[in-house]
Amino acid sequence: MADTYETLLVERADGVALVRLNRPEALNALNSTLLGELAALLGEIEGDDAIGCVVLTGSERAFAAGADIKEMSTKTYAQMFKEDFFTAQARAIERFRKPIIAAVAGYALGGGCELAMICDFILAADNAKFGQPEINLGVAPGIGGTQRLTRFVGKSKAMEMVLTGRMMDAAEAERAGLVSRIVPAADLIAEALAVARKIAAQSPLAVMMNKEMVNAAYDTTLTQGVALERRLFHSLFAFDDQKEGMDAFVAKRKPAFKGS
Ligand code: CAA
Repeated sequence: MADTYETLLVERADGVALVRLNRPEALNALNSTLLGELAALLGEIEGDDAIGCVVLTGSERAFAAGADIKEMSTKTYAQMFKEDFFTAQARAIERFRKPIIAAVAGYALGGGCELAMICDFILAADNAKFGQPEINLGVAPGIGGTQRLTRFVGKSKAMEMVLTGRMMDAAEAERAGLVSRIVPAADLIAEALAVARKIAAQSPLAVMMNKEMVNAAYDTTLTQGVALERRLFHSLFAFDDQKEGMDAFVAKRKPAFKGS
C-alpha cells in the first residue's frame, strides 16, 4: 500500500512502514511541511494494527541536512516563540509508541541528527556523517541536540561537536555509542527492513512496553526505573501473548502473537 505525501515516500509491507524523507533538492532539510507530514503519518500509523515497526530514512546522500535554514532565516523571535517552532512536531515523534528505527546514510546534521536521535535506535551506513553545526549559523540545536547527544556520547564529545560544528563519521559514531551498528550503504535499507520485520513479528504489546521501559532509563533514577520495569513486567502476564510466547517455547513451536 502506498501513501501520498509532498515530502515523504511511504511503503507498507510485512508489518513495517518504510518512510523516506523526500526533499532531495534540499538534502531533506526539515521544513514545516515535512515535519507536519511526518507527525501526521506517525499519528495515523499509531492506530494501524497492521504496522508493528517504522523505518525512517533519507537518501544515500543525506538522511537530513538539518532544519530548513531558508525557511527559518527571516523569522523573528516573536514568530518562533508564538509558533512554538518545532515543539508540536517533535512531541508527535517523541510520543510515538511503536518502534521507529532511523536508517541513516549520508548527512544527519542539526535537526537531522536530532531527528535520528529521537528515533529508538540508529542504524548507520558506512558513509553516515553526524553533526550539530548550528553554531556555524550563529544559533544552537533546537530539537534536543544538546541534551540527547550529550546522553549518547558524553559531555566531552558532545560539547566539542556543538561548539565547533565538527562532524562525526560512522566509525566514530559507533565507537561513541550514538549508533547501534554500521552496515554498508548499499545494504542499509534491506538490513533496516530485516530488523524491523523481526520486531514487527513480536507481540506488539510487549514491544511497546519494552520501548517504554528503556526510555524510562533517561528520565528516572535507577531505583524508579527498575521499579517501573518490574511493574510493567508483571503486567505483561495479563496478556494472551505472554501465554502464547511461553507455551510456544515449551511446545518447541513458533509463537503466533495476536496483540491481545
Ligand atoms: N536548509 C535548507 N537548505 C539546505 C540545507 C538546510 N539545512 N542543507 C542543504 N540545503 C540545500 C542547499 O542550500 C542546496 O540548495 P541549492 O542547490 O538551492 O543551493 C542543496 O541543499 C544542496 O546543498 P549543498 O550544495 O550545500 O551540498 P554540499 O554537498 O555542497 O554540502 C552540506 C552538503 C555540508 C550538508 C551543506 O549543505 C550544509 O552545510 N548544509 C547545512 C547544514 C546545517 O547547517 N544544518 C543545521 C541547520 S539548523 C538546525 O538544524 C537547527 C536545529 O537544530 C533545529
